[in-house]
Amino acid sequence: MSYFENAQKQAAALREKECVRILAIESSCDETAAAVVENGRKILSNAVFSQIDLHALYGGVVPEIASRAHVEKVDRMVDEALRQAGMALQDVDALAVTYGPGLVGALLTGVSCAKALAYGTGKPLIPVHHIEGHIAADFLSHPDLTPPFACLVVSGGHSHLFSVDGYGEYRVLGQTQDDAAGEAFDKAARVLDIPYPGGPLLDKLAEEGDPNALKLPRPKTQGRYDYSFSGLKTAFINAVHTLRQKGETLPVADLCASFRQAVVSFLVDRAMLAAEELGIQKMALAGGVSANRLLRREMESACRKRGIAFYMPELSLCGDNAAMIGSAAYYRLLRGEIADLTLNARPSLMLSSIPGKE
Ligand code: KG4
Ligand code: ZN
Repeated sequence: MSYFENAQKQAAALREKECVRILAIESSCDETAAAVVENGRKILSNAVFSQIDLHALYGGVVPEIASRAHVEKVDRMVDEALRQAGMALQDVDALAVTYGPGLVGALLTGVSCAKALAYGTGKPLIPVHHIEGHIAADFLSHPDLTPPFACLVVSGGHSHLFSVDGYGEYRVLGQTQDDAAGEAFDKAARVLDIPYPGGPLLDKLAEEGDPNALKLPRPKTQGRYDYSFSGLKTAFINAVHTLRQKGETLPVADLCASFRQAVVSFLVDRAMLAAEELGIQKMALAGGVSANRLLRREMESACRKRGIAFYMPELSLCGDNAAMIGSAAYYRLLRGEIADLTLNARPSLMLSSIPGKE
């Protein structure tokens, strides 16, 4: 029997099994991560190696450095995830891996490792979309969360409002027309000489600033629930340059607070417009930017005011990690969506594409 025929048989049996443990790998950008997750909801281990220090010197992620660091670290992260879970490789039921979107070299490391482990053990291999993983972080933090719900996914590469109609069933309600929110935060931080990745530090500095100090334009978009951050970012960078040219000392905290307020109120207002017009009763937040303090506070209070149930990942699950991939993988497995060994990295993968049906 071929690897894939055997994997399909095993996957069918796993759908009946009471306790399914998946070893997941994530390497799409600058975190090398591995985790073991039980039944999509329980984290048995979650090992993350952040490459931030390697890229900080260059002010952003350098793809070649990322790929090399993933190659050096991926085996160690897998060993660490198994050790933390108290399991041997043979004890896991299936392998899962992020196969897109992301940096091609970075993705390839995780995909190659997962394929090798799947082939070596004969276990099923489950391909996961990175953004689907971010959404699944909410399943880990909220055992009671079940579809349907809407999810605002904001990260370094994405700003999307999804309708999650069922497990593995996504509809785009709105998306950014240009920059992602995280990218805008990082670029605004960079002009203030805040080291990469600027988003988290900008957020921290903003806590002490006046959000009304700098007036920024309200972005316009084509779609009612779409986003746009590039105009906001340019207006902010121009304002900072003007202050510098005048020789003024930059009111850094006020500038951070003003930019953060503009981004967050835009994100929240559009999500609430969709919620009101589409009758959304459950709203979730996900992605690296969901760690933003103001975004967490404002989404929570906007949802509370409207009687919408609100869900967000705990802070440790906002950024890239493999536990979220292990959760999303469980629901793909239940739908029979496993890959054969031709699985390849897909740098521009869309969330609507279902493995095997693309
Ligand atoms: O999801 P993620 O870890 O990687 C991608 O899939 O892109 O998101 C990383 C992004 C970076 O742009 C980072 O600056 C931003 O999330 N970020 C934040 C905060 N924490 C992370 N942006 C604003 N406020 C934060 N607290
Ligand atoms: Zn991410």
